[in-house]
Amino acid sequence: MTVRPEDVSVDATVFRNVVGHFASGVAVITTAADGERFGTTASAVSSLSMEPPMMLVCLNKSSTTHDAVVKSGVYAINILSEGQAGLAFQFGKRGIDKFEGVEVTEGVLGVPLIDGALATIECVVEETPVGGTHTVFFGRVASAAAYEREPLAYFRGTMGRLERVKEMAAYEGVRDWVLKRRTPLRESLDLAEIAKALRSDEDQVRSAMVKLVTEELVQPTEDGGFVQVPMTRSFLEAAYDGRATIERGVLTGYFEKFTDEDKQFLRDTADRISDLRSKDSSALDEFLALNAQFHNRIVGVTKSAQLTDAFRRLGIGTVWRQALDDDTWQAQLDHTGTLAMAEAITTGDQEAALSALERHTEIGKGLARDALALHGGEI
Ligand SMILES: Cc1cc2nc3c(=O)[nH]c(=O)nc-3n(C[C@H](O)[C@H](O)[C@H](O)COP(=O)(O)O)c2cc1C
Repeated sequence: MTVRPEDVSVDATVFRNVVGHFASGVAVITTAADGERFGTTASAVSSLSMEPPMMLVCLNKSSTTHDAVVKSGVYAINILSEGQAGLAFQFGKRGIDKFEGVEVTEGVLGVPLIDGALATIECVVEETPVGGTHTVFFGRVASAAAYEREPLAYFRGTMGRLERVKEMAAYEGVRDWVLKRRTPLRESLDLAEIAKALRSDEDQVRSAMVKLVTEELVQPTEDGGFVQVPMTRSFLEAAYDGRATIERGVLTGYFEKFTDEDKQFLRDTADRISDLRSKDSSALDEFLALNAQFHNRIVGVTKSAQLTDAFRRLGIGTVWRQALDDDTWQAQLDHTGTLAMAEAITTGDQEAALSALERHTEIGKGLARDALALHGGEI
């Protein structure tokens, strides 16, 4: 049977994950229109032609910077340097004063150029083809400058120094491997096999294992290898409580910090979670991924990389992959807590958000206990 090209399409979650494998830098696109400055973080940036020198950036039609570039007809690409991850977050938000605390210099086209960037390129818009949700701004280069600094790298959703980003990706991959029990519980973890599967190198896999020892997820063996530590009820409950403590702290101390964009994201994600549970029984992985995104976003309002990291390290969501069955998870898992939290956060009801969190945590712990019981007390 021949498949017609118009009948095949990739799953959205798969697509997002796969394109994240394209390592890139991070840029902030800036412009000025009617005396106001605009800027947005963008990774969809590329050189287009040498003769004449041209660049392209892809901006979502819903972005305010998009409209400002349409109006002004000019933009600058500020390629961020190693220490500027904070700016990538700041310009990735909506509805805030993006330029607060940001030193800029005006370029020849009158657009703000960010001081301390790795490189800046000013462009005059020549063409604006549209692709899906985005407009592509083809720009003729009017000025370009680069500086002796290190780049801010972006790979699989992580930003940082190039080496650090690779290390983080290896750590996430190894942690996921362990939590999904891709090596059976009592067997020794084969570092070479894991490195090959993750397209990482063995040294990075080894240092990820050492980190997992501190998280009590694996333990060293006498022959220099590692084995997985079985998860027991007390381990799962401690992880749940740890995450709930962080989220409770965020809802208590940062409740006013949720932007409209955060609220929209939480509401949309809760709706998608709820849809998945009621319709698509094959979507357990997506359900778990969306759940993680939902809770990470809540903690993300603190803008604290350390707190977000601690929160993620307590995440044991992929254990559910082990404990649940593709056919029965819809009946076992619960999403009403997520919906209630999204609702309370978007309507500004702090008390309701806190009590939804408590309920959600207790339900989660109960499910974890049931799942463990099914597996003889440990996973
Ligand atoms: C790392 C990263 C890369 C991004 N890349 C793009 C991009 O290429 N194009 C885009 O339109 N938005 C991108 N975004 C999202 C925008 O920065 C975000 O929607 C922003 O809030 C838009 O702000 P504005 O509406 O003030 O222009 C990216 C965000 C991050 C954090």
